[in-house]
Amino acid sequence: MRKIIISAVAKNGVIGKNNGELPWHISEEFKHFKETTLGSPIIMGRKSFDSLGKPLPKRENIVISKNRALNYPFNDLKIFNNLDDAFNYCLNKKYEKVFVIGGGQIYSQAINLVDEMIISRLDFEAKGQVYFPKYNQNDWETVRKVKREQFEIFWYKRK
Ligand SMILES: NC(=O)c1ccc[n+]([C@@H]2O[C@H](COP(=O)([O-])OP(=O)(O)OC[C@H]3O[C@@H](n4cnc5c(N)ncnc54)[C@H](OP(=O)(O)O)[C@@H]3O)[C@@H](O)[C@H]2O)c1
Repeated sequence: MRKIIISAVAKNGVIGKNNGELPWHISEEFKHFKETTLGSPIIMGRKSFDSLGKPLPKRENIVISKNRALNYPFNDLKIFNNLDDAFNYCLNKKYEKVFVIGGGQIYSQAINLVDEMIISRLDFEAKGQVYFPKYNQNDWETVRKVKREQFEIFWYKRK
């Protein structure tokens, strides 16, 4: 099973605001995210899920939280207390790939576990308090890139 981080990162590394919001709205980038993740499970931190407010359709939504009493009024939502359990669940369900969709805390923990990253590098800096984790670019090979208006998508594979 391929474990893949997908993220949109501003020029200064910002990925979000403290209040859970994204500092930008780029519909073309959302479209790319949707097309890429449709049909696959998506793993996210509890804070990112709270800012979405509800599960994203046509994907198995998985939330990571330390709170064992966490409960949401959605049938189609899985909650795990750690990332390993979430990956194992996807493995047992024989998914071909799984996407880690954020936010900052979850990317930090997943970055050493994933095989691939799909990063939309935005053309501008953004104001925010949540950053994509630092990582060694030398560990990753760019296998494809596509320029879009306001961002460029990079597909990375771990060397
Ligand atoms: N630009 C992008 O591509 C992108 C993508 C996604 C999100 N975002 C942005 O990122 C921001 C949210 O990121 P964030 O770092 O604040 O939060 P987050 O990673 O979304 O969620 C953090 C929460 O995940 C749970 N968690 C983290 N590590 C855990 C572990 N080892 N075991 C169990 N649970 C664990 C905890 O939930 P509990 O507190 O419930 O225990 C923690 O509070 C928002 O601003 C959002 O808009 C940006």
